[in-house]
Amino acid sequence: RGVRVRIPASTANLGPGFDTLGMALTLYAWIEMKPAESTVFHLYGDNLDGLPKDKSNLIYKVAQSVFKEAGVSVPELEISMYSDIPLTRGLGSSASAIVGALYAANLLIGSPLDEHKLFDMATTLENHPDNVGASLFGGIITAVWDGSHAAALRIEPPADLEVLVAIPDFQLSTSKAREILPRQVELSDAVYNVSRASLLTAALASGRLDLIKDAMRDRLHQPYRAALVPGMARILDEATANGALGTALSGAGPTLLALVDRRSNRREELKQFLLKTLGQEGITAKTIWLK
Ligand code: HSE
Repeated sequence: RGVRVRIPASTANLGPGFDTLGMALTLYAWIEMKPAESTVFHLYGDNLDGLPKDKSNLIYKVAQSVFKEAGVSVPELEISMYSDIPLTRGLGSSASAIVGALYAANLLIGSPLDEHKLFDMATTLENHPDNVGASLFGGIITAVWDGSHAAALRIEPPADLEVLVAIPDFQLSTSKAREILPRQVELSDAVYNVSRASLLTAALASGRLDLIKDAMRDRLHQPYRAALVPGMARILDEATANGALGTALSGAGPTLLALVDRRSNRREELKQFLLKTLGQEGITAKTIWLK
């Protein structure tokens, strides 16, 4: 008997909440897992061609770590994965694979590990809790991580909140987008971000969409990462004048994310602004409306 899980994509940071805030998105991957005579993989989706189909596959290795933690042995697995989440674009594809593998493997053996344990294991693999927390718990999450233990609170997204992503047609590795960040920051920049991440969390928790514009600004990572995504600086500066509640780089990029009031009559205008601004830099992008 096998199991099947559906895991959401996620966006990390939401601007000021670097390595702290995350939000699950209505874009999904599915993983099926069952005991087998010998290990075999079925990977579907444009993005998955290059992934290994042997026991070096991340999903297999993560599943084995669950079995080891629980003290059971399921050495051979039939694993199927289908994903609509583009790889290496800042939409949490690796987090969704890790969370899906942990959750499916745990389910397969009767769920001996609780969600907190799965969250710790997922964060250890990802090194930051924002994407995995959102994929595991759904909704908007605010998370902390001390290197071995993660804690998170889920916030229900405001009913009128909609998300527009513009996904550029190039990949950007998280490691490259982290290496470009300074090791030390000014106290004034730290205060700038702490205040905005706090305001954004409170605004989202209380449905105050009007506060997002002031809250969704950042000085810890986006100014440095702007060099890696042509057009990004202008989008972050001007999208609120073109119909967005606020904008951010999605995770480590290159996807750009706009929060939008679903009642707005400027949704099409915003989409055209994003595509035009990227287009002027020679970048083709695909937009998707999500929740
Ligand atoms: N918070 C992480 C970062 C997310 O911005 O580097 C990357 O997946």
